[in-house]
Amino acid sequence: MTDTLILGIETSCDETAAAVIGRDAAGRARILSNVVRSQVDEHAAYGGVVPELAARAHVEAIDAIVAAALGEAGIAPRDLSAITATIGPGLVGGLLVGASTGKAMALGLGRPFVGVNHLEGHALTPRLTDAVDYPFLLLLVSGGHTQILLVEGLGRYHRWGTTIDDALGEAFDKAAKLLSLPHPGGPNVERAAEGGDPRRFPLPRPLKGEARLDFSFSGLKTALRQAASAAAPLSERDVSDLCASFQAAAVDVLADRVGRACRRFREAFPDLAEPVIAVAGGVAANRSIRASLEAEAARAGMRLIAPPLSLCTDNGAMIAYAGLERLEAGMTDPLDVAVRSRWPL
Ligand code: KG4
Ligand code: ZN
Repeated sequence: MTDTLILGIETSCDETAAAVIGRDAAGRARILSNVVRSQVDEHAAYGGVVPELAARAHVEAIDAIVAAALGEAGIAPRDLSAITATIGPGLVGGLLVGASTGKAMALGLGRPFVGVNHLEGHALTPRLTDAVDYPFLLLLVSGGHTQILLVEGLGRYHRWGTTIDDALGEAFDKAAKLLSLPHPGGPNVERAAEGGDPRRFPLPRPLKGEARLDFSFSGLKTALRQAASAAAPLSERDVSDLCASFQAAAVDVLADRVGRACRRFREAFPDLAEPVIAVAGGVAANRSIRASLEAEAARAGMRLIAPPLSLCTDNGAMIAYAGLERLEAGMTDPLDVAVRSRWPL
């Protein structure tokens, strides 16, 4: 019999998501349901997420998504121990929809509400999927974030590196746009890169070799634009070579930063039995990136944990899990807790 049941609601960007997770008496966390409705189609025509459209789509979807999450988990609302929702960072309109829904349920059911930082949800996912012990290293690579985090404990996150301009997923999306590939760009750039020549266009590797662990991708994007206009009009072959060259540069930079972070982690925690680096965010779907992270981790004597893609991209289960750890630590929130568009961990 499951002791603790948590509903997690996620609406910070363009996914309306809800999930139920449970912690049984033996301490194991289990995902009982994980329902995600993507708004990709609504935003595709605009080449990016339109905040007002996103908020409206969340309003329309949220009740059905929550009902589906409860239904798939086979539980009634009154079975829940607590309700959690993302309260930032993200688009305020969407955050308000999810947070208000969660708060209303908490009030109606007389259960605690836990407001979760979206990034904390990503950061703790390896504990849900693989029961990883603290401390561990996390690489978060999504459309909005590119960060290397030391996860030392609940609420104890140290940002070792971040992007000083574009996020990596954003760079893939912009690369796709300037090569006239459809949105979202990442998967399409990866596909076009297959069979392309990664050495044909020598693109820069920004910040490679620097001691600080930050990232920069806007120079790479600009160089890609220049290479593309110099080669125009572009044949399919040209696009393929440009994508391969862009992806090779991104992989190269990421490997350099991550390799350095792994070595720093090993020096900081020399006695861990199984040092772990975990990856989160949609860009983790990229097979070249995964393979290179695998190699860097192995070189540093660390284990790479890459959760299934459905748990790398935005979802309710990660929010429910972060809420569960917070609930267990007695860290619940008042119903007037505010949503926040910016909220670094
Ligand atoms: O985590 P996510 O689903 O949403 C947030 O950004 O929060 O990540 C989406 C990002 C997009 O920028 C998308 O282009 C990128 O992840 N992405 C990829 C791949 N699949 C998704 N980037 C590179 N290669 C891929 N295969
Ligand atoms: Zn995310």
